Amino acid sequence: MKDDRIELASQRDLDQVYEPAEDSHLLAETAREYVGTDDLVLEVGTGSAYVATALATTGAEVVATDVNPMACREAYEAGLSTVRANLVEPFRDHCFDVVAFNPPYLPTDPDHEFDDWMERALSGGEDGRAVIDPFLATVRRVLVDDGVVLLLVSSLTDIDAVRASAAAGGLTAREVAEESHPFERLVVLELRPDDP
Ligand SMILES: C[S@@+](CC[C@H](N)C(=O)[O-])C[C@H]1O[C@@H](n2cnc3c(N)ncnc32)[C@H](O)[C@@H]1O
Repeated sequence: MKDDRIELASQRDLDQVYEPAEDSHLLAETAREYVGTDDLVLEVGTGSAYVATALATTGAEVVATDVNPMACREAYEAGLSTVRANLVEPFRDHCFDVVAFNPPYLPTDPDHEFDDWMERALSGGEDGRAVIDPFLATVRRVLVDDGVVLLLVSSLTDIDAVRASAAAGGLTAREVAEESHPFERLVVLELRPDDP
């Protein structure tokens, strides 16, 4: 009986944490190329900790964050330094060499928003940029001057609008990886401070 309850509880958690998909894989493979052994790396929105775990195989120190407490538990159980946080809020200025984020980016009709953790993993609000824009407005603060952000975005999210938000946050964007799928093009943007 007790074992059944544990089984049900962990199943429920899995339903509330984003499963790694094509976007996770593209970000992990691309971001790994940017990480050096001595770097301090932040993954924002770690979900199942797939990307953070891939980055940690480089030998770098990786911090994983998420707003979802069940995602934080998965990252912690995977052996990562884990902080429950909204975006980069709790971190000191100029401390990370690399920041990676696969954000919620799907444009979603507000009348069809669900109030659960999976919705928070997927939904980027009406224009798809409800989480991306505040991230881009604040991430420069926690980057070292020669640091880099790797941000996964989709053609569904209006990549030019994302570039404009990045510029407003003091970052210059460059497309460094892409993958086409039937309904969208996935892109990794490399973002670097334009006033290092
Ligand atoms: C698309 S999922 C990506 C999960 C994982 N990184 C991957 O690539 O498989 C987006 C993740 O961002 C988290 N998230 C959403 N809003 C956030 C916020 N304001 N601060 C931190 N994490 C957030 C979600 O809980 C979810 O785990």
